[in-house]
Amino acid sequence: MNNILYLAPLQGYTELEFRRAWSKFFTGFDLALSPFIPLVEGERFRSHHLRDVMPDSNKDLTVIPQVLGNDPAKFLMLAQSLSELGFETMNWNLGCPKRIVARKKRGSGLLPFPEMIREILEKIIPALPLKLSIKTRLGYYSPIEFTGLIEVYNSFPLQSLIVHPRTGLQIYDGDMFLDDFEKALPNIRHQVVFSGEIVDYDSFKNFCLRFPSITGWMIGRAVLSNPFLPEWIKSGKAETNDQKIRLKLQHFHEELYCEIRHRIKNERPLLNKMKDYWSYFSHWFINGQSIFIHLAHTNSLIEFNNSVKKFFETESLAPFEGRSNRPLTTTCRSFIHI
Ligand SMILES: Cc1cc2nc3c(=O)[nH]c(=O)nc-3n(C[C@H](O)[C@H](O)[C@H](O)COP(=O)(O)O)c2cc1C
Repeated sequence: MNNILYLAPLQGYTELEFRRAWSKFFTGFDLALSPFIPLVEGERFRSHHLRDVMPDSNKDLTVIPQVLGNDPAKFLMLAQSLSELGFETMNWNLGCPKRIVARKKRGSGLLPFPEMIREILEKIIPALPLKLSIKTRLGYYSPIEFTGLIEVYNSFPLQSLIVHPRTGLQIYDGDMFLDDFEKALPNIRHQVVFSGEIVDYDSFKNFCLRFPSITGWMIGRAVLSNPFLPEWIKSGKAETNDQKIRLKLQHFHEELYCEIRHRIKNERPLLNKMKDYWSYFSHWFINGQSIFIHLAHTNSLIEFNNSVKKFFETESLAPFEGRSNRPLTTTCRSFIHI
């Protein structure tokens, strides 16, 4: 099977630290797309935002940088920096559904304005020193918008079109518009990468059967709730040795914690970051919900780490099949960051 598997960008989760720690213990991804780099003024790119994609730090899993914005001049400035770093492809985010982003006609907020997208592409494509791929939704308000968007996307040479078949209004939930996507697929003249709800081997197989022309697949939230998933999909075999699974997950978690501790030095923000991860990691165990509630109420790193250690020693692992890719919450979400 010649499928290419991408790690999806998940802002706040799949940054450098996660990608490095994951690559140390798991396999199956061919490429990663970085969480978006916002287009800001020139010099700041160098210091802060490019840190996540620097090739030297991303040797184990090649990363394609993603940008979010609508200003052609800033786009080209960032593209130049990326090209100087050796990147051959960059990605434009036309999918971010956050209200604060969409209101400013960025991310999915540009989708109701295909002519604006065309104008931006007309300005950047002729001067772009690298190839461009786009990550899009079917529309902001409705999948009907996709027809006009395809017309625009088809007018430009894109490396690929990554499609999350929801609308911006849906954020990351609700039924995907698979029928609309299926109808539109033959009209797209670019290579298409599919992103959405690949949660286990069966769901992947079903998407493959339904969309046989697609060879690029992107996995997001499910790799947090099952880091073995890409390997399972690539090999067709799931790891079954309970002890091996447990040890790998534990070592991966320790590695991730160490990586993140380098960047986040203060106890409270580090604790909150790890709690965010555990809203997905708790699915590793059958008792995920109570594990998450317990961890969400811990008040120090010592308490948190002791609890995690105990869970790895005592809790039963959840089966891989049908595992949720949704974050767990306490009954009151605000508990997470107490
Ligand atoms: C917390 C979170 C952060 C995300 N950040 C990004 C992002 O930075 N760029 C992007 O293109 N998509 C982003 N996405 C969308 C995912 O890449 C992906 O398309 C979506 O989650 C559907 O795939 P999944 O069901 O495999 O998670 C994000 C999604 C979530 C849940």
